[in-house]
Amino acid sequence: MENLETVHLQVKDIYYPPEEIKKECIVQNYEEMYKKSIENPDEFWSEVANELFWYQKWDKVLEWNIPYAKWFVGGKTNITYNCLDRHVLNGKRNKVAYIYVDEDGNEKKITYGELLELVNRLANGLKSLGVGKGDRVSIYMPNTIEAIASMLACARIGAIHSVVFAGFSEGALKLRINDAKAKVVITAAYTKRRGKKIPLLPTVKDAIKELDFVKKVIVWDRDNELSEEEYGSHYINFQKLIKSSSPVCEPEIMDAEDPLFILYTSGTTGKPKGVLHTTGGYMVNTYLTTKTVFNIKEDTIYWCTADIGWITGHSYIVYGPLANGATSVIMEGVPVYPHPGIWWEYVEKYRVNVFYTAPTAIRMLMRFGDEIPAKYDLSSLKILGSVGEPINPEAWIWYYKNIGREKAVVVDTWWQTETGAHMITTLPCYPSKPGKAGKPLFGVVPAVVDKEGNELPPNTVGHLVIKKPWPSMLRTCWGEPERYEKYWKEIPGGVYSAGDLASVDEDGYIIILGRADDVLSVAGHRIGNAEVESAIVEHPAVAEAAVIGKPNEIKGESIKAFVILKEGYSPSQELIIEIKETVKEVLGAIAVPDEVEFVDKLPKTRSGKIMRRVLRAKELGQELGDISTLED
Ligand code: WT7
Repeated sequence: MENLETVHLQVKDIYYPPEEIKKECIVQNYEEMYKKSIENPDEFWSEVANELFWYQKWDKVLEWNIPYAKWFVGGKTNITYNCLDRHVLNGKRNKVAYIYVDEDGNEKKITYGELLELVNRLANGLKSLGVGKGDRVSIYMPNTIEAIASMLACARIGAIHSVVFAGFSEGALKLRINDAKAKVVITAAYTKRRGKKIPLLPTVKDAIKELDFVKKVIVWDRDNELSEEEYGSHYINFQKLIKSSSPVCEPEIMDAEDPLFILYTSGTTGKPKGVLHTTGGYMVNTYLTTKTVFNIKEDTIYWCTADIGWITGHSYIVYGPLANGATSVIMEGVPVYPHPGIWWEYVEKYRVNVFYTAPTAIRMLMRFGDEIPAKYDLSSLKILGSVGEPINPEAWIWYYKNIGREKAVVVDTWWQTETGAHMITTLPCYPSKPGKAGKPLFGVVPAVVDKEGNELPPNTVGHLVIKKPWPSMLRTCWGEPERYEKYWKEIPGGVYSAGDLASVDEDGYIIILGRADDVLSVAGHRIGNAEVESAIVEHPAVAEAAVIGKPNEIKGESIKAFVILKEGYSPSQELIIEIKETVKEVLGAIAVPDEVEFVDKLPKTRSGKIMRRVLRAKELGQELGDISTLED
């Protein structure tokens, strides 16, 4: 790895796409197309939506009663028809939809025809359990074809899926199942990570103990190893359910604004928000962004390394690639097991053209040295995507040189669970700048403003807002409309506040600097400070806790907790271990603090709010800033 100083000297400001890639790009003239999307949105979006199948066309592209939007008003469709049937009927029955691989090199391919049959069987299975349109189904599954089929089976019959990342533990799972009031939970016996089986079923069993609205749990018994006792009347065997169900299931005719899924994401309070996405607009925009940002062609091999438990998995493993009829690689496991070249081994093996991952993974793999990727033939790569957090120029350059071999383009895609699809990036035909996400995508009108909503001049830091509604925007927060409305009220002017700090350069490239609110970004995972704090206080010895993020070279941020103990307890190494264990149990390993420090007092405002900002500045040896509201 080159040292930082030399890399800085080598960072050019701007990188032009190689001619060979440029001439293959579906979009050649970004500026013109963007202009049309803003000046003539009805025509623009109608043209895109017309590339897909609708039972009934929309009467109106957009109805906007701030902050509530309806897209493709009156349109009727089913997203699974567009993701599956459409391709099967167009001669792609035998085209591979997914190549699943695990850490041991096991491979399983599924064609569009087979996936349609699997989805239909499962959809009929869900129906037989009494699941129908509008019912919620929680999915707690490993990153596998079966998980994807579970999501699609819900969408087939109009049930609303709520996928919970399988790395979350009981507390986080229970909260999500309970909030959505899921009728059915779909899970698996286990997931595999670093050569170990991690059981999932026991976590589900614990999570639903008190949730009597959960009627059934469907269990994918991957190795046929669960005994009858492990089932009981509440539990249904996934494989048996599929076998006994019909492979034909007519898609439910869905209104464009019928809910498609809920996905929980961290906010600034202890309770995550159930971000709700609907059918038509989400379908159209994930289709368009996948096609144009990743330049999906008939023979493209595409690999997004995310997990289906996050929005990246929903939009860019499941719905976007399938709507485009692409062939995707999907992997269950971690990037460094059984060896830190495993990703590059699979890129070589499957001749992957588009590779989409997170900066935290790039920085981690960078550490193992340039020799590792150098061993593999990565010449198939054309587009390298980044997502989840700001990518520092060092990691960008490493990705560009050592993975792309200076022949692929890097696209740094900024978006959020709430936005449903990419919002800011450069298209592969367009020059990119290391560390700067780039330009707005079609229909997106971003601005960098101060707290009063005044637009700021170039190269000043402010709040990132979106000034107009876009098709794949969240429609509400499940059961909490006031939290939804807050996005549009935070900053005056009727704009959507993204919660990120950003600035625009003189060429109109947007650079995202990180969160402006009390939300952490740990290894690309979004975690609320308050969520970790409330997990810590579940430990019986803890009176109060405050959590901050500290810059971390690999993970972006690491978590530090300041803890006040209850009367009668004194600080000890054991307590630190126990507190970490508590967070792991309540939330999951990704939220466990790296550091725990015991303190007697926390800085608070006169109204009793913990000033995390002050703690953070002290910890990092920075200026304390305005502390006029500090209690003492
Ligand atoms: C937050 C959203 C969207 C998929 C994964 C995360 C940060 C996301 C970038 C990027 C800088 C980024 C922002 C955003 N973020 N992509 N390319 N550059 N920051 O989804 O969990 O909803 O988190 O991730 O802070 O607000 P999410």
